[in-house]
Amino acid sequence: MQAHELFRYFRMPELADFRQYVRSLPTNTLMGFGAFAALTTFWYATRPKAVKPPCDLSMQSVEVAGSGGARRSTLLDSDELLAYFYDDVKTLYEGFQRGRHVSNNGPCLGSRKPDQPYEWLSYNQVAEMAECVGSALIQKGFKTAPDQFIGIFAQNRPEWVIIEQGCFAYSMVVVPLYDTLGAEAITYIVNKAELSLVFVDKPEKANMLLEGVENKLTVGLKTIVVMDSYGSDLVERGKKCGVEILSMKAMEDLGRANRRKPKPPAPEDLAVICFTSGTTGNPKGALITHRNVVSDCSAFVKMTENTVNPSPDDTLISFLPLAHMFERVVEKALALNASDTHISFLPLAHMYEQIMMCVMLCHGAKIGFFQGDIRLLMDDLKVLQPTIFPVVPRLLNRMFDRIFGQANTTLKRWLLDFASKRKEAELRSGIIRNNSLWDKLIFHKIQSSLGGKVRLMITGAAPVSATVLTFLRAALGCQFYEGYGQTECTAGCSLTLPGDWTAGHVGAPMPCNFIKLVDVEEMNYMAAKGEGEVCVKGPNVFQGYLKDPAKTAEALDKDGWLHTGDIGKWLPNGTLKIVDRKKHIFKLAQGEYIAPEKIENVYQRSEPVAQVFVHGESLQAFLIAIVVPDVETLSHWARKRGFEGSFEELCRNKDVKKSILEDMLKLGKESGLKPFEQVKGIALHTELFSVSNGLLTPTMKAKRPELRNYFRSQIDELYSTIKV
Ligand SMILES: *[C@@H]1O[C@H](CO)[C@@H](O)[C@H](O)[C@H]1NC(C)=O
Ligand SMILES: *[C@@H]1O[C@H](CO)[C@@H](O)[C@H](O)[C@H]1NC(C)=O
Ligand SMILES: *[C@@H]1O[C@H](CO)[C@@H](O)[C@H](O)[C@H]1NC(C)=O
Ligand SMILES: *[C@@H]1O[C@H](CO)[C@@H](O)[C@H](O)[C@H]1NC(C)=O
Repeated sequence: MQAHELFRYFRMPELADFRQYVRSLPTNTLMGFGAFAALTTFWYATRPKAVKPPCDLSMQSVEVAGSGGARRSTLLDSDELLAYFYDDVKTLYEGFQRGRHVSNNGPCLGSRKPDQPYEWLSYNQVAEMAECVGSALIQKGFKTAPDQFIGIFAQNRPEWVIIEQGCFAYSMVVVPLYDTLGAEAITYIVNKAELSLVFVDKPEKANMLLEGVENKLTVGLKTIVVMDSYGSDLVERGKKCGVEILSMKAMEDLGRANRRKPKPPAPEDLAVICFTSGTTGNPKGALITHRNVVSDCSAFVKMTENTVNPSPDDTLISFLPLAHMFERVVEKALALNASDTHISFLPLAHMYEQIMMCVMLCHGAKIGFFQGDIRLLMDDLKVLQPTIFPVVPRLLNRMFDRIFGQANTTLKRWLLDFASKRKEAELRSGIIRNNSLWDKLIFHKIQSSLGGKVRLMITGAAPVSATVLTFLRAALGCQFYEGYGQTECTAGCSLTLPGDWTAGHVGAPMPCNFIKLVDVEEMNYMAAKGEGEVCVKGPNVFQGYLKDPAKTAEALDKDGWLHTGDIGKWLPNGTLKIVDRKKHIFKLAQGEYIAPEKIENVYQRSEPVAQVFVHGESLQAFLIAIVVPDVETLSHWARKRGFEGSFEELCRNKDVKKSILEDMLKLGKESGLKPFEQVKGIALHTELFSVSNGLLTPTMKAKRPELRNYFRSQIDELYSTIKV
């Protein structure tokens, strides 16, 4: 199946509904603009009230007195930050216990087999299984202490939550592993976190871990617990290198026969070590405590108090951080290799899913897991009918493209445009709904393809374009929030407020943290002008990186402020807008960090290339470059390949351009650039970037903002013509 088929369910509704409606109107109504007037009247008649915002939307944050310009949420009564919302929920263990109580032992975790309905484990069943897993860990020699780390190497599934709750019940810490990290990074993490026991979902992952042990790359791994069934060959292979292979069932039985009383953690104890990686170096293990997660989760609950109010009737669909099947789909679409995508994006998406799970569990709601195959996600949505749907921009872009791709006649497109404009007008007055005439006529099918019950969506982990977000807010007609943050502040530090359905900003500081902007002089961003590096402080800010004081000191200053590396700007109504990235590192649409200078240095070594400017945008999924060929070498180099002509003629020749690009890509590959770091297209320019034409600094460095402006038309042209 191709990526574009992923959203084949997002069909434009057949126009039959509309025609039928028009036919059902009395004939005289159909005279002139009568039908139109009737539609409009109907629309006004069914127009409901706006969502009541929790504060004045023209003042969503206020300055903290004596803080040097830091701002906080206006939802707080004082400068004291919110660490928890419910007095009895200060750890993830307590959150689960609350859900157990308020749901009155209702359904908790659901999964399904192909073409089957969802099967649910109740809160008590999950608690029972979790305690068995935790007791078994103790039987295996682990202590009830927050310096005991347990690996989980699996896709989202009920066992994930059961193991995690099992660890939390006995104050142990989980370390998530993802196969997209690649074997090398996994080996690194197993060693760095000294994991002696790892839970895996599939035997292949056990084999991958065993390979590290056999090659003496990992030391200390003693036990692998496998969730799916496996053969005796795996057990044998483990035995040969001293690793015990156990089934999940055997583990539970062991715990059942040796039950221990839970020893719950304290709020300041570690809960998760989430490994993230930047552009270079080894992954870093962000130390996240219970207080970190609970404060972030509480801040979400506080911001959406009276508008969301999760209850046991709610269902969340769990499929983030997009498991490896999605990578394959993406891989086809972008011609990327699975192991190279989403390296930095996954941990953040994971934490952000963790926050939503915490919100759900502490309100006794249900979590339904996708089947583990992203191609079946649409089917899972239909069967599960989730009310809460956390998403990432990549998925939203696909939905958007799909919906507009389907509207391939003038009439369809006109209707879609008209309907979304009408609903966008409602959005501006704070109204969110799914029962207007436009929903009935145009958007109904899109909404029902998500199961037909979605009432809350939240996007984060990478930037989403204002056009896409606004259109989907209108089309889906549910409360739709955008958050911003990093793994280091436990996912979110800002979130859009209920009632503010405008796009183009990332909302106000969450009640669990202050945000301040700090001068970045070299880039001319000054806090005094309301611009600078986004810094975050509060109970959701992490404790540092595992055994890495140097990296910790780079991220956390001595006063406890987390430096995000993103450049933000305060808007007049107290919301934050992310405008740039410090150190010329930026994220692509799928969330990968790109350091353009590093890539330029590689391409510059290509014989026909004199200068190169690599460009990417957070709303685009790939890089492009402007290349100035080398006057000295180009004609010789081109002649060897059968091209003749003057420098200018060669620069205009499409085939020469293609050869240069091929040479650059070959060099890139040899130098170990990841596929997403390679450019997908180039434009040739004949004049060198120089100090005198204002494109280089006096120290001969590229002036990136100037280059961006200067080559705007070429850049836009490349992005509009290259289809990946
Ligand atoms: C992806 O990997 C395969 C083999 O693993 C390789 O042949 C192919 O060139 C790679 N694709 C890219 C775009 O690097
Ligand atoms: C328009 O899209 C439909 C599917 O929605 C397809 O069947 C039809 O062939 C398309 N028409 C054109 C003109 O592309
Ligand atoms: C419309 O919204 C309501 C309330 O948010 C929700 O209960 C209902 O299921 C939604 N319907 C569809 C078709 O999404
Ligand atoms: C907040 O300010 C920005 C920029 O001035 C504007 O685009 C946005 O619509 C405002 N939001 C609200 C809810 O007024």
